[in-house]
Amino acid sequence: MKSTASAPAKIILFGEHFIVYGGKAILCSINKRITVESELTKTGQIEIESSLGKLKTSKSGAYKNADLVFRPIVYIAQRMLEKFHSESGIKIIVRAEFPSGVGLGSSSACCVAAAGSISGLFENNTKEEILKLSIDAERTIFENTSGADCTACVYGGILEYNKDGHVKKLEFVPKFDLVVANSGIIHSTSKVVSMVRQFKDERHEVFSSLCTQEASLIEEALNALQKNDLTKIGKLMTQNQEFLEKIGVSNDTLGSMISLVKDVSYGAKITGAGDGGCIIALADKTNLDRTLGALAKKYECFSAKIDMIGLEQSST
Ligand code: PMV
Repeated sequence: MKSTASAPAKIILFGEHFIVYGGKAILCSINKRITVESELTKTGQIEIESSLGKLKTSKSGAYKNADLVFRPIVYIAQRMLEKFHSESGIKIIVRAEFPSGVGLGSSSACCVAAAGSISGLFENNTKEEILKLSIDAERTIFENTSGADCTACVYGGILEYNKDGHVKKLEFVPKFDLVVANSGIIHSTSKVVSMVRQFKDERHEVFSSLCTQEASLIEEALNALQKNDLTKIGKLMTQNQEFLEKIGVSNDTLGSMISLVKDVSYGAKITGAGDGGCIIALADKTNLDRTLGALAKKYECFSAKIDMIGLEQSST
């Protein structure tokens, strides 16, 4: 039997960085997926194949010794084999429709898809159980994860969340397109978060005023999203980008990418930590081709819709 599961990429629509200091953020799943396929083998080993490389390891070896890229998957495989006292090995294939390391949540999508696929070889789990397993797996590489990215991958749609772990799926179904463009600059979230902390320590009043402005922007955004008011959502994205520039997480490349779509999209901003990674631009059928066209000459980009499905599982 082959057990397959897939989970979507995510973007941060509003609120990155300010969330670290107590604000809310708005996260969306998008319709680009990571698919994990697994099957039991007689080799007694855990074998993983992905575009990031291959791994063959003893199923009894500690997952902590596995390369970071594979560690959560090895953790899930070992946990399931142990739980069911299985003598088998597992072969796991990972396929991604979007790049990793650029703030689109590839590691969370991989944890969720792997949890769904590997656990599906042994038992039928609820989405809540798979979420828990995937967050445990993500903690093997990112100890302090809020779990928000995995939650978005499991349930899909738009989520409001904060640092204390409050996560709420918003009930409205958005009708817009996003253009996601990759700067090609790999960023380190923890490095950028430290840069922002330094900014906050040195310019406390400016930072505190930006936090207050961001909090009211988020409330306006929730309202505009509910009405699918694209002009307003786009304006708020542009304004959010200005706040992000003030705290120093944009750079010349990201700034010029945003300028390219300034007059054609409804609005644009970086998504995630910044200092590299991706930007997102808001569009609909009236301006999608022009927005993509403005970026495609220089940057890897694609259009995406909000994914309302989240985790999908099947077996053959
Ligand atoms: O680039 P990403 O997807 O890792 O997003 C980081 C979001 C931050 O707000 C910058 C950090 C955080 O922990 O929320």
